[in-house]
Amino acid sequence: MKLSRQSQPNGRAGVARDSGANGLPRIILAHPSGARVELCRHGAHVTSWKNARGEELLFLSQKSWFEPGRPIRGGIPVVFPQFCDDGPLPKHGFARTRTWTPAATGTTPDGETFATLRLEADAETLRLWPFRFTLEYTVLLSDRLTVRLAVSNAGDQPFRFQAVFHTYFRVGDIRQTGVFGLQGLEFSDSLKAGARACEARELVTFAGETDRIYIGASDALGIHDGGRGRTFSISKKGLPDVVVWNPWIDKAQRMEDFGDEEYQSMVCVETGNIVAPATLKPAGRWEGATSFFSEG
Ligand code: BG6
Repeated sequence: MKLSRQSQPNGRAGVARDSGANGLPRIILAHPSGARVELCRHGAHVTSWKNARGEELLFLSQKSWFEPGRPIRGGIPVVFPQFCDDGPLPKHGFARTRTWTPAATGTTPDGETFATLRLEADAETLRLWPFRFTLEYTVLLSDRLTVRLAVSNAGDQPFRFQAVFHTYFRVGDIRQTGVFGLQGLEFSDSLKAGARACEARELVTFAGETDRIYIGASDALGIHDGGRGRTFSISKKGLPDVVVWNPWIDKAQRMEDFGDEEYQSMVCVETGNIVAPATLKPAGRWEGATSFFSEG
């Protein structure tokens, strides 16, 4: 693998490009600490985040497709401009199945290794969604991982959109996993046709299929992974809602690109603007970001 000129003297850090699964082009970010990220241009999809000890922190399904036109199962899918089946577009929008263009790579003044990918409207997206947009997705790696999406309206009419970082965390055992920071929030339960209820628990634990949108969550939350003795801290900006999803046994079996037992080693905690989509006027710009920090 050839490292770019931003390489550090220890020869491990910097930005490199190569081909990943099924020959899909990807960008490798390596931080001087030893942390590493793999970013696939297909979907601007982070498929791997390893800490300085080389431990994988994201879940990626063994059965994932790595094919043009199909989303990758695991890592961090970028959902835009539609969440789930919340409109007429393909599920979770089209950003996760388009090939993004590298726009910049390097090291920030704060020492983060980064890459920015760009996606613009083209004939195919305009057929699905008749708006001219520019997306800029920046992945920054230091002792934490930060993802930032900027949406610009490059057309002459306003548009509304949802945007979500659909992060799949790798956990030791879902039965020993809990999400904290959601207590007291109203949620929409996707398994009960969106029925609203209030979260009473300090730690949201799992004993069955879970698919909820927590509305207006605080900007700091996290995951306790009891199986590995690890805590993920999540901080977000501009993204009020949080989806907590685990397919559990039956849905895992129904999903073609997901192993029957894999529900045990993942949890999705997704940050986004879902319940109240953002509106952008012509020339307007919107930004949302989330940082992940893992301890233990
Ligand atoms: C979650 C949704 O965000 O994504 C779930 O809340 C959905 O309802 C899940 O099943 C996975 O979606 P997909 O399209 O990647 O299978």
